[in-house]
Amino acid sequence: MKDALTQQACNLWRNGDVVAIPTETVYGLAADAEQDSAVAKIFSIKGRPQFNPLIVHGYSFEQLSSYIEVSPPFEKLANTFWPGPLTIVAHRRKDAKLSYLVTAGLDTVAVRIPAHPIALALLKAYDKPLAAPSANKSNTISPTSATDVITTLKDQIPLIIDGGLTTIGIESTIIDVTTQTPTILRPGGITYENLTNLLGVVKYTSSEEGIKAPGMLKRHYAPSIPMRLNATAKNEREAFLGFGDMSCDKNLSHRGCLQEAAANLFRMMRELDDISFQAIAVAPIPNRGLGVAINDRLKRAAAS
Ligand code: TXA
Ligand code: MG
Repeated sequence: MKDALTQQACNLWRNGDVVAIPTETVYGLAADAEQDSAVAKIFSIKGRPQFNPLIVHGYSFEQLSSYIEVSPPFEKLANTFWPGPLTIVAHRRKDAKLSYLVTAGLDTVAVRIPAHPIALALLKAYDKPLAAPSANKSNTISPTSATDVITTLKDQIPLIIDGGLTTIGIESTIIDVTTQTPTILRPGGITYENLTNLLGVVKYTSSEEGIKAPGMLKRHYAPSIPMRLNATAKNEREAFLGFGDMSCDKNLSHRGCLQEAAANLFRMMRELDDISFQAIAVAPIPNRGLGVAINDRLKRAAAS
């Protein structure tokens, strides 16, 4: 039988809410990785000016392998370091039911099985993957105790689960196995030596291709057809991605809600990325709150 706290967390996740959970690295702000709106809530609470892709947490190799393409280096890393402070970036399976906001529209997914017993018990009980960034406001230090989370986010999350001080205290190492030579995107709990001992050659990312610092991802999603921003109407053969009360092909949010627009953004861009259109025209998005992150991604997508 599940204890009351676990039950409460699972109910919140099922209803699209966010719960702070302990992991062995840092506390995470966790939501159902399959629900767009739940994931949008994470970004809203963190106050991130950008949509960086999030780490998808699971409790078993079998569970996570239904979301990603398993490759030989992936399997080696997972068998050696999971559960533990290693995040592996792999290709997203075509049939993966994950929210596109979790991966910021990318075709890769970062996955990890945390070693904290409470995190594992919660993931097992929920039996669906949880997207979780560190449970802090954007540009502040990652939390290593429940008190850290309470101090900054208490009023914004319905449940914070106390698992004591985290044992590692820095974020997980992130390694990308979609590149020819496995690439470390972020140093962390598992060392360079740990990784080279297992895989042979491993390289660090150069700022050109990956993240300069945690959270600074250069790679981003862009549709295969051009995008035209701040459009008030569509031209012939354009698809129109609207916002607010207007007629369009897809509407990010009829009621003009930025959180709803964030939840729909990457999925709708993908849906409109179709050869029957020449371009995607996008209605103006207010540049406040989550609108800043939405406009950041739209600009990047339009620039490619
Ligand atoms: O230890 C940790 O990893 C903690 C705990 C809660 O698990 N989580 C964490 O998440 O540090 P966050 O969101 O603060 O950092 C996730 C990093 C970001 O820098 C993001 O750019 C990168 O992972 N990332 C996520 N998905 C990626 C992908 N598909 N490709 C490249 N980088 C990715
Ligand atoms: Mg973080």
